[in-house]
Amino acid sequence: MVAPVCAAVILRSGKVLLARRGPGRRHAGKWEFPGGRIEEGETPAAALVRELREEFGIEAEVGAEASRSRHVYDDGEIELIALLVPRFTGELKPVEHDRISWVEARRLLEYDLAPADVLIAEVVAAHRRRKRYRGAHPRRFAEKYKELGADPKALAKARARGSTPAGSHLPVMLAEVLEALEPLAGASVLDCTLGWGGHAQAVAARMGPEGSIIGLDRDGEELDRAAERLGSLGGNILVRRCDFAGARQALRGLGKEGVDALLADLGVSSMQLDRPERGMSFKTDGPLDMRMDRSQGQTAAEWLACASEAQVADALARFGDEPDAKAIAARLAVLAAAGRAAKTTSDLAAAVATAKRLKPGRFQKKDAFSAHPAARTFQALRMVVNSESEELSALLRDLPSLVRSGGRAVFLTFHSGEEALVQEALASQTVAGLWLGPLTAPRKPSPEEARENPRSRSARLWRVVRS
Ligand SMILES: C[S@@+](CC[C@H](N)C(=O)[O-])C[C@H]1O[C@@H](n2cnc3c(N)ncnc32)[C@H](O)[C@@H]1O
Repeated sequence: MVAPVCAAVILRSGKVLLARRGPGRRHAGKWEFPGGRIEEGETPAAALVRELREEFGIEAEVGAEASRSRHVYDDGEIELIALLVPRFTGELKPVEHDRISWVEARRLLEYDLAPADVLIAEVVAAHRRRKRYRGAHPRRFAEKYKELGADPKALAKARARGSTPAGSHLPVMLAEVLEALEPLAGASVLDCTLGWGGHAQAVAARMGPEGSIIGLDRDGEELDRAAERLGSLGGNILVRRCDFAGARQALRGLGKEGVDALLADLGVSSMQLDRPERGMSFKTDGPLDMRMDRSQGQTAAEWLACASEAQVADALARFGDEPDAKAIAARLAVLAAAGRAAKTTSDLAAAVATAKRLKPGRFQKKDAFSAHPAARTFQALRMVVNSESEELSALLRDLPSLVRSGGRAVFLTFHSGEEALVQEALASQTVAGLWLGPLTAPRKPSPEEARENPRSRSARLWRVVRS
């Protein structure tokens, strides 16, 4: 059996904390990155927060994973997961260590380290030393290690220039969502689109320890990260991998008939858009995948390879309101016939540029607020690949059975297709007496939010109260 162990790369003013093992401990006298065993059912982040509280008296904020490695000892094997700790509060008071030292990353390997900790030191030292990107600023997702490690200055800078820090998601219309959901102490809340957990985290804080949240998402990859992040913050949050069509069954499986509040923040998260390997964005080159759940279904490239020119044109017009739908479909058909079918996000963006007769130099977004010429095509294909309309319709159909009498349902939509489905379903269910009417017009984000977070600008918030 492999025993999981966590370790902290605690950062302060460019230095890293090492602690020396006290007498009577295995490898006494050796230096290590603070940490300890991960108990059963605990996430690495939660274990690290606990260990640092118990062994050093500090409250840690845990960031990205720094390294993961296996080590075989005489009495068994361990998996060592090192996580960055960009911030902590409290005064360091070691309980089991006899010394601590703040060390420059490049000097870590000069210390007499416990065997398993050498690899962490190598990774951290190399990471700090090596110039990982060209030019003055990192451009690619993986290079933005400061944002990924939750470096406060890097996060503030990213927000100030109107971007979402890499690896996170700014919850849209947060104050309005809280107002609309009205999560009271002790309430149960179903977040059908957990994503990064930004809304869920704020709802949990508002409800206090008696409230409970069930967080669903079809994206298992991001769900694991969200579960770990939310777990380290404490709170009563249950997480399940599930799509909209399975929400009713998931709730029943947890022994619940309905909840006091339900949230569906539609579309994709910033993390999905930003990770090149997900193939959802025209901004970075990656395989043309676009699936929110990469464990099943066709990728966008596979769908394009099977669809006829007419089906592609229809999808682009229907799900993207793309005025040049026919020209783009024709260009993709020409490329496929020549054995050059679009396989990457760059292939698709280039095909759109050619179809729109744009020169590569002009095929640029003017600023964070203007729409990219390929945005509609990417949105439409993403909707097809993920059956987004069918999924939303299934959720809207089951909605009245998911929310208790007097409970609330809140939807955040981001384009006209979603708006039409939500408005039509809520209006007809209101007429049928399932919701207290009349259905009011959706709310928009404030001008300040639209300016600070360009991804929020098309958001519309719909709210209904169960009769
Ligand atoms: C805009 S993000 C949610 C962000 C979240 N509210 C936050 O504050 O971090 C939308 C999330 O919904 C998920 N999603 C989209 N369609 C879904 C579906 N049909 N079933 C389950 N999850 C879905 C996506 O995978 C994505 O993680």
